[in-house]
Amino acid sequence: MGKNSRTSLYEKLYNEIKQEIISGKLTEGAKLPSKRAQAERLGISVVTVENAYAQLLAEGYIAARERSGYYVCAAEFPAPQPAETSAQAEIDKPEETTAETPQQFGNELFPFSVWTRLMRTVILEKGSAILAPVPPGGAPELQAAISAHLRSYRGITVPPHRIIVGAGTEYLNNLLVQLLGSGLTYAVENPGYHKPARIYRLNGALCLPVGIDQHGILADELYYKNVDVAHISPAHHFPTGIVMPISRRLELMKWASRRNGYIIEDDYDSEFRWGGKPLPTMFGMDTSGRVIYMNTFSMTIAPSVRISYVCLPQGLYERWKERLGFCSCPVPAFEQYTLARFIESGHFERHISRMRKHYRRIRELTLALAVRSCGADSISEENAGLHFLMDIPEDSGLPGIFAECGVRVTPLDEYYDEGSAPPDSAAGRFVVNYSAADEKKLSEQ
Ligand SMILES: Cc1ncc(COP(=O)(O)O)c(C=O)c1O
Repeated sequence: MGKNSRTSLYEKLYNEIKQEIISGKLTEGAKLPSKRAQAERLGISVVTVENAYAQLLAEGYIAARERSGYYVCAAEFPAPQPAETSAQAEIDKPEETTAETPQQFGNELFPFSVWTRLMRTVILEKGSAILAPVPPGGAPELQAAISAHLRSYRGITVPPHRIIVGAGTEYLNNLLVQLLGSGLTYAVENPGYHKPARIYRLNGALCLPVGIDQHGILADELYYKNVDVAHISPAHHFPTGIVMPISRRLELMKWASRRNGYIIEDDYDSEFRWGGKPLPTMFGMDTSGRVIYMNTFSMTIAPSVRISYVCLPQGLYERWKERLGFCSCPVPAFEQYTLARFIESGHFERHISRMRKHYRRIRELTLALAVRSCGADSISEENAGLHFLMDIPEDSGLPGIFAECGVRVTPLDEYYDEGSAPPDSAAGRFVVNYSAADEKKLSEQ
């Protein structure tokens, strides 16, 4: 045993004895050498042995008997794991990617210098106030900044306190099922974004897949399946891209007020509409307090930022205060203050406009490549969002070319609910996501 440092010597001795006990070399009742004898045997100090024995004692591997010494305690240790299930084998194995894998993101546009400056300003100006917890709904300045942004960008009037900030949409799905109740029947669009359904079900709620037609989720099915809460993406359905017309929106609002139900409006990529004005939100149209608006900064800033929010109607806000107002806001205060300043100072809207220009170019290049390879008829897209649908013949080689350019291609089949068989029309159809595409590589194709 080397003598480089006292701590490492004591840790080494502690580990050696512990391993001998775990492996069964030292069995229950075995007596350890006295501290002095052990020290002499190993040529180390008695204090080092004392520290090692004290740690083993504290963890219950050995017990001290008065005037007798230290003895190994009884314990049944599990057999060592076979190599392939060991934690190390798991660490070494690369993760597979699926439709659930978070979307990659074009990161060259992230405003690093502005963000760094705002972070410094926040620290300098806030000082120790930055260490105080923010209220459960979020930092008031972020709520105010989002409220002002929604008014100018989405035509939504919502008081800041009714905006609840959460660590990503998944967190907010959990919050909503706790708020509305797990005894209700939830509905998700089929095909659709899988995560909300999984979260509602994990919370013990019944969550039914509901079909869509060319206008979006089917109102009739909501009635006959006795749905209470419908989670939808009317501005740009994921993944088909359908933009819900006003007629279907009104039908759904009628359903919600007849049923005393709720609509969760997921507006996840509404900032990326490529022609005309942004469509008004259902939350903005609602007069009966039945629509919950949800949006995220994952698409506009970066998925790693983990900041999303819901806007609650007045009645649900009161319920939230009563039921969930005791839970701390999960987003770090520092990030909330920085984001608030990013929005307030106009950087956010300028950033969106740069992102829109960037994505517009990428979209045009991706569409041109798709048309050259498979023809315009194979594509359906609605002038919005960061993905489109297309038919890709098996022998086209296009998925490989797309992959080289950072364009992600996923079979449409994968977006159907686990309990429902995809229709024949989904076969050979793919969701083409260009949010992380490499512009240079695309233009060289
Ligand atoms: C339909 C939909 N909603 C929301 C999100 C964003 O979720 P989060 O805020 O958890 O990053 C995504 C991301 O892919 C999405 O596709």
